[in-house]
Amino acid sequence: MKDQYGRTIDYMRISITDRCNLRCRYCMPEDIPSISHEEILRFEEILQICQSAVLLGIRKFKVTGGEPFVRKGCLPFLKRLKELPGVEQVTLTTNGMLLAPAVPMLKEMGIDGINVSLDTTDPHTFQSITGRGDFSQVWEGLMAAQASGIRTKVNAVLLQGVNGQDFESLVRIAEAYPIDVRFIEIMPIGYGQGYQGYDRSTLLTRLAGQFPDYQEVTASRGNGPASYISIPGFRGCIGFIDAIHGKFCGSCNRIRLTSDGMLKPCLYYGDGIDLKTPLRQGASQKQLRELICQGILKKPACHQFQAQNTGGIPEQRRMSQIGG
Ligand code: 5AD
Ligand code: SF4
Repeated sequence: MKDQYGRTIDYMRISITDRCNLRCRYCMPEDIPSISHEEILRFEEILQICQSAVLLGIRKFKVTGGEPFVRKGCLPFLKRLKELPGVEQVTLTTNGMLLAPAVPMLKEMGIDGINVSLDTTDPHTFQSITGRGDFSQVWEGLMAAQASGIRTKVNAVLLQGVNGQDFESLVRIAEAYPIDVRFIEIMPIGYGQGYQGYDRSTLLTRLAGQFPDYQEVTASRGNGPASYISIPGFRGCIGFIDAIHGKFCGSCNRIRLTSDGMLKPCLYYGDGIDLKTPLRQGASQKQLRELICQGILKKPACHQFQAQNTGGIPEQRRMSQIGG
């Protein structure tokens, strides 16, 4: 369906857990209490929401976390979502730690894409960013995913003073493998507020020094706000998600479902529509659909990351509770 600004909303990001097996410094640097088991939507409830969403024309779903694979039953859930009538696309965002053993089942169920979050190619830097991660395990997952023929992307967040030096080696992943490598500008959400990132134009200038014959990709690639360039001889493209500096809100196509059942019209704003309470009080599919509709119609025109006085309530949740 269309929102009040004429944007077609056909994509939902679903965070199935706020828990994670890593402690990325810009996301969840320390142990924090996770949402209690009862507060988390059951898979059955999520599927009910998806069923209603499909009827409103939301046919593409991205499953995120936290880390989705730390939730027991993630794979069977993905399979059921994939089989839900009307669902056109199911993709997944993961940190890759538990990915390798899951690849055969993901392939078999026909998952439409996997995004692996990976901010460095250096095992030491990896450890220093993620606190506890094992780079080789993630690399193994990434390689297994791309080798299986599943469409695989890397999402990297570059932080000044932390992993800026990894830009070139991350770019080179797209040279050796058919993997799109995308650079996400850090957003001032949660612990992200403590870091400075890099915007698209800074990174492009750096890239042009080494690959002067790169070209802008004009055809659309994927569902999201990334803009892509191609480099001759590379098997994958390089993408930029210029979250702060490149306002892409005008073409936003998405809504978000948090693991505790809030429908979030915009990543930036903290408010949303509680779907869990009505669901647990026995709301009909029609009532659910009406609530999702309300959420879509509440979508603001744009985020206010750069504004001083926003006039709304900025998000107070951490990124691990929203799922990116
Ligand atoms: N800004 C931008 N991206 C972020 N991520 C986590 N926190 C932030 C932030 N503050 C990214 C992760 C992962 C994706 C789900 O969101 O690195 O790739
Ligand atoms: Fe976990 Fe992803 Fe947050 Fe890292 S960025 S702590 S992998 S949810």
